[in-house]
Amino acid sequence: MRFFLVAGARPNFMKVAPIFSEFRARTYRDVMLVHTGQHYDRNMSGDFLTDFGLPEPDLNLGAGAGTHAQQTARVMVAFEEACHQHRPDWVVVVGDVNSTMACAITAKKLGIPVAHVEAGLRSGDMTMPEEINRLCTDAIADLLFTTDKLASDNLRREGVAEKKIHFVGNTMIDTLLRHVDHARALALPEGLERNRYAVLTLHRPANVDQESVLSGILGAVEIVADQIPIVFPVHPRTASKLAAIRVHPNIRISAPASYIRFLGLVANSRLVLTDSGGIQEETTVLGVPCITLRSNTERPITCEVGTNILTGNAPERIRSAARAVLADGMRRGRVPEKWDGHAAKRIVEVLLGAHPIPC
Ligand code: UD1
Repeated sequence: MRFFLVAGARPNFMKVAPIFSEFRARTYRDVMLVHTGQHYDRNMSGDFLTDFGLPEPDLNLGAGAGTHAQQTARVMVAFEEACHQHRPDWVVVVGDVNSTMACAITAKKLGIPVAHVEAGLRSGDMTMPEEINRLCTDAIADLLFTTDKLASDNLRREGVAEKKIHFVGNTMIDTLLRHVDHARALALPEGLERNRYAVLTLHRPANVDQESVLSGILGAVEIVADQIPIVFPVHPRTASKLAAIRVHPNIRISAPASYIRFLGLVANSRLVLTDSGGIQEETTVLGVPCITLRSNTERPITCEVGTNILTGNAPERIRSAARAVLADGMRRGRVPEKWDGHAAKRIVEVLLGAHPIPC
C-alpha cells in the first residue's frame, strides 16, 4: 500500500514527523511526504523539516497564501493531480489547517480512503476556520485518530462509527519528548535566565487582524513585562500589524523561531501567553503555566488536567491571570493519558493493518 503523508503549515510538521519516522523504522518505504506549500518561508516550514530530520518532501504543491477559498482551491487542484499521478492507497492528514481539509475532500472524492490524525477536537466556535476544517475532515474520514477521550466522545456524539475511532495519543507530544532534553539544554538568548522570562505568541485573526485588539493585548501583557522580559517570536500574519503599535521595551520581538529553539524557550520559561492550539498541549506536558488568549479551546483537556487558563483577549482578564501566575509560581498539572511518546507507533500499527476500503 502507498501512503501519502500530508503537511501544509507550520503546526503540521511536528505531527507528521514521528509517523514518517515510524514507517522508516519499520523499513516501510512506500510513504510519500507531500508538502502543500501553504506555508513556504524557511522559518515557517523548511527549518522544521531539518529540525525533525525529515527529508525534502517528495512533492511540494506550492499552494502559498491567499484567501481561504483561493488557498483551499489551489491545494485541491494540485493535490488531485498528485493523486492521479502517484495513486496513493491511503491519504493521511493531520491537524486542522486549510490543507488538511482540502486534501481530505480531494482524496475522498477520488475514492481514496482518508486517515485524520488529531480528529475530534472541537471548540464549538464556528468563527474559527479551523473548526470548519475539523468538522469537514472528520465527517468524511475513514480512520479517526484521537489525542484524548473527550475528542473520541465528540466523534461518537456526531455519529462516527466506533470502529473508525482510535484513541492513540498525541504525535505532537511524541516529537516534543524526543527533542525536549536537547532543547532545554540550549543556551538561552543573551539576558534571559531560566524561569525568569515569559514567552508570547499571537497569530489568530481574532487577536491580530485588528490593530485595536492587538494593541489591547500588548498593553495587558505589560504587567508581565514590568517584572520579567517577554520573548515574542512574531508570526508573519502579526508582523505587518505591529509596525504601528508601541511595544514595551521589555518585550523582545524576534522572527519565528525554529522548533527546537522555540521548545527550549518554552521549556525554560516561567509563563507562556499564547493563542496557539498546540502550545496549550506542549505547556501542559512541560508543566509550564499557559495563559491562552482565547475564549474557547478545542483542547479542553489542557484546562481540565493541564496548566492551561483561558482568558480571552480582554485586557483586564489577561492582567488578572498573569498577576495570579506571577504571584503563585508554577501551576503543575498532569500529563493526559497516552501522551507518552508512542502515538505514532499506535497509528502506524493501525494503518498497516488496514486495507484500502471502498469509499
Ligand atoms: C495557518 C492555519 C492556522 C495555524 C497557523 C500556524 C488555516 C486556516 N490556518 O494560519 O490554523 O494555526 O497556520 O501558523 O489553515 N505567511 C508568510 N509566510 C509563510 C506563511 C504565511 O509570510 O510561510 C503570511 C502570508 O502573508 C499569509 C499570512 O502569513 O497571508 C497567513 O498565512 P495563512 O497560511 O493564510 O494562515 P496562518 O495565519 O498562518
